Amino acid sequence: MGNMKVNEMRERTIDLRSDTVTKPSPEMWEVFKSLNNSNLGDDVFREDPTVNELEEKAADLLSKEAGLLVTSGSQGNLISLLSSTTPGNEVLLEFESHIYWYEVGSYARIAGLAPNLYHTEKGFPRSSDLNDLLRIRNDDHQPWTTLLCVENTHNRHGGTVCSPTELSELNKFTKENDLKFHMDGARIFNAAVALKKPVNEFSKYVDSITFCLSKGLSCPVGSVITGSQEFINAARKYRKMLGGGMRQAGIIASMGLVALENKWIKRLEEDHKNAQLLAKGLNTDSIPLKITFPESNIVFVEFSPTTPIDKFIFSAKDEGILCHAVKNRVRFVTHYGITEEDINFCLEKINSILSGMQ
Ligand SMILES: Cc1ncc(COP(=O)(O)O)c(C=O)c1O
Repeated sequence: MGNMKVNEMRERTIDLRSDTVTKPSPEMWEVFKSLNNSNLGDDVFREDPTVNELEEKAADLLSKEAGLLVTSGSQGNLISLLSSTTPGNEVLLEFESHIYWYEVGSYARIAGLAPNLYHTEKGFPRSSDLNDLLRIRNDDHQPWTTLLCVENTHNRHGGTVCSPTELSELNKFTKENDLKFHMDGARIFNAAVALKKPVNEFSKYVDSITFCLSKGLSCPVGSVITGSQEFINAARKYRKMLGGGMRQAGIIASMGLVALENKWIKRLEEDHKNAQLLAKGLNTDSIPLKITFPESNIVFVEFSPTTPIDKFIFSAKDEGILCHAVKNRVRFVTHYGITEEDINFCLEKINSILSGMQ
């Protein structure tokens, strides 16, 4: 860090590792501070009015019968898997999906499911890719494949967006094959904003969807699952089983209510513009890089296998820029709090680091 003092360093840090690093907006703090005991109750008894309002608002937005506040996206996905399957079933998961890579194998350890993996170019299958993976239900030797999961936007594929048209085709496939359909929609509002469509255009094709309040929507904690009333009744029980009954959780839900206002969802457009600015501005003449044009707020930059990525990450950190290495790729995620000026600063510094590395 040279001679920079810790405080100076902190002030200048531009954290592009993830949109989970976001902190609440002033409006969120205002609503939070205006809470009093009349806004809170025991949510396990379904008596927290603020949680109830958030769950209803989420269900409304996504055109589902009911919603459920959960602690995190990982918990939301696990509860959804538990509520849609029976142990011993198989779940169709994308090879690069968050559920498969980053949720500690809870689909297996806790839900008792076997992964039946599909591979894709951009994160989303066509029904023809899945046909051969399905087990034969009336063959006594084979387990049952009962659930299809998709991730939208897709993190490890670089924030790619699955369109309602693609989802509609997959919905038809799940109906024809008696599968349930779950969407890990941690960033579904990014997908909606990217394609300029209402979010229910996406959610209407799945049986259940988890979305995160704590990513681009910049709440400090929480995710919401939505689905049919029957599904949410089951999900509520599994949430309790997993220790996710949070009592006076209106404290969390109050900020979620701000996040689900239209202007706050629309704000995600800024993040997408900044991601495009970053991707366009990376100077690939100095060092061979593969940069895929971002569809939402995630930019992956692929380095040649011989380039020392650790050195790049370290040099960027030295300039006050934090990013995340995934094998030979570096991930930059734009989010609330990152401005166009920040991106221009990053471009200047990153391009200079890259030319020094050739
Ligand atoms: C696509 C996706 N799904 C689920 C999650 C899990 O969310 P959480 O960190 O709240 O458990 C993440 C987190 O980064 C994610 O990117």
